[in-house]
Amino acid sequence: MIKEIVKGKPSSRTEMLIYEPVSKKRPEKMINIFSAWRGLEIIIEDILVQFNIGRESCIEFGVEFGYSTVVLSNFFDKIIGIDTFEGDKHTFYRGGHFDKTKARLSIYENITLIKSDYQNWIPNDTNHYDFAHVDIVHDYKETYECGLWAAQNSDCAIFHDTESFPEVKRAVIDIANATGYRMFNYPFHFGLGILVNPNIMPLD
Ligand SMILES: C[S@@+](CC[C@H](N)C(=O)[O-])C[C@H]1O[C@@H](n2cnc3c(N)ncnc32)[C@H](O)[C@@H]1O
Repeated sequence: MIKEIVKGKPSSRTEMLIYEPVSKKRPEKMINIFSAWRGLEIIIEDILVQFNIGRESCIEFGVEFGYSTVVLSNFFDKIIGIDTFEGDKHTFYRGGHFDKTKARLSIYENITLIKSDYQNWIPNDTNHYDFAHVDIVHDYKETYECGLWAAQNSDCAIFHDTESFPEVKRAVIDIANATGYRMFNYPFHFGLGILVNPNIMPLD
């Protein structure tokens, strides 16, 4: 069941709703590695079912060591993970680890990792994805820019750290207002914002 929690700004067309999982299930494929994403793996399938999202393609911005990437790889034919693999000012680990991470994830045949920042990737990608995940540096500008593209190029985009980084939540709200996407928030495990394309779930 999903219920309303927060009205948007007076000028906004959207409202932030609490996302409430109906069913929680641990995916089959998991990787035992450090991640602040731990805990979210049990709600991903429920999100896909509740919002009726396709299972062909997923794009992720912010792979780091691959925890969320491997979780998402359970549900899509193909997943592309974009990251500088250098870390950022909010990550504990900084320094290049592309080769090591690529080798670790090489057993998952449906995962493709790309070493790039989102700024160089998005102008050259015109694909539409079933699902997108944004978990990069947790500043407003980057989350908004990358997240707007992710939302406009997918049926459903999720954003990690809406509770631990207010700037991420603010960017998600502004993207929903800019696009007319439905907006949900799951307040656990540092917060997960969920934007659903109105083609999938029209506004009332
Ligand atoms: C919080 S970590 C991602 C955590 C990961 N999703 C997980 O499951 O543990 C953020 C990642 O975003 C990457 N990143 C930061 N800014 C980026 C940018 N502009 N483009 C691409 N990746 C970026 C960092 O290199 C870092 O690996």
